Amino acid sequence: MSPLLDDLRRATPTVWLNPNLTSWRSAQADLEYGRIDIDDAEALLLRHAPWIAEHFEGTDHGIIESPFIQRGSMWVKLDSHLPISGSIKARGGIYTVLKLADDLGGPLGDQAFYSRYRITVASTGNLGLSIGIMSAAIGFRVEVHMSREAKQWKKDMLREKGCVVVEHEGDFNDAVAIARQTGKEPDTFFVDDENSADLFMGYAVAGRRLKAQLERSGVEVTPESPLHVYLPCGVGGGPGGVLFGLKTEFEDNVHGYFVEPTHAPSMVLGLATGRYDDIAVADIGLDGITVADGLAVGRTSGFVGKRMGRSVTACVTTDDATMLRDAERFFHSSGYYLEPSAAAGFTAYEQFAHLPGTHVVWATGGSMVPEQERLSSAE
Ligand SMILES: Cc1ncc(COP(=O)(O)O)c(C=O)c1O
Repeated sequence: MSPLLDDLRRATPTVWLNPNLTSWRSAQADLEYGRIDIDDAEALLLRHAPWIAEHFEGTDHGIIESPFIQRGSMWVKLDSHLPISGSIKARGGIYTVLKLADDLGGPLGDQAFYSRYRITVASTGNLGLSIGIMSAAIGFRVEVHMSREAKQWKKDMLREKGCVVVEHEGDFNDAVAIARQTGKEPDTFFVDDENSADLFMGYAVAGRRLKAQLERSGVEVTPESPLHVYLPCGVGGGPGGVLFGLKTEFEDNVHGYFVEPTHAPSMVLGLATGRYDDIAVADIGLDGITVADGLAVGRTSGFVGKRMGRSVTACVTTDDATMLRDAERFFHSSGYYLEPSAAAGFTAYEQFAHLPGTHVVWATGGSMVPEQERLSSAE
């Protein structure tokens, strides 16, 4: 048995340096997507910025972006504090819903028009929140299928917004499989977290946004001083899309590290075995259970693994106690609350902090977590 599989089976925190890492020029040549697709996504977001500014608080004139802060030798990208839905999933989810509304062509907010259509999605929680909040504002009917990990407050919030919440006993991949069936029903659009190019492009816009923030902060990215970006990974769409956007801007001067829970290391399992979504963590005896609800994914996205698998520098696994500890430490030192999934990046930073360059921990969610929930998870 390989040492990696041995560590994964035993749920021991581990680091996998990707032997298939290749130059961006070579990886990009095999992709059907490129800069032009990110241009389109950004243009659509810009076009709808006035409407967003009118209907939601906290945006920068309708631009949905998060703070970028420095903490000693580390930088933190606070997608935990993205406006509207408070997680990295806001990037892909909100873009996907706006694009669908654009394609259908009604005025945003026209309930009589949009309530003819239903959007369905499966989620561990945060994608559901982003899709649910934006769809409800536009006027769509929404049905969110939630896996067993999904937190009660996320279900409550969605119901308050008028979304239908369907609860599942199984894990995220089971919920996706059932929700996918709804896509065959009339006037229904299923947002596929495992395979959606639209979600992917929404996440990818983050690359150029971070580039502008780095420039404003006076940070130069060069071959001698590259960017190291630590991304919590669930099904892979969020981190994969962000890395696609960053590679498009910085090519080989950016290194992406994906971080997963020791009990649900589905991306590293798929990449290291070359089996992508053809293998699940249950196949190596893991239960997929973790306090990091957003990362509790047993089978990775084949869509992302096959496209970004040669562009991820390394994968790292971390355990629940470390994520909880790092979230708490960050809260005490910065005042920003992160949910456990969102703190996974700190583990990887510790592994690679000695390398020259600029280190960015992507903190992916937390600002929507209610006060009561924060207290109970701190106990
Ligand atoms: C807080 C948080 N971080 C990271 C992720 C990972 O995103 P993905 O599942 O697209 O890999 C999620 C997914 O829901 C999340 O909720």
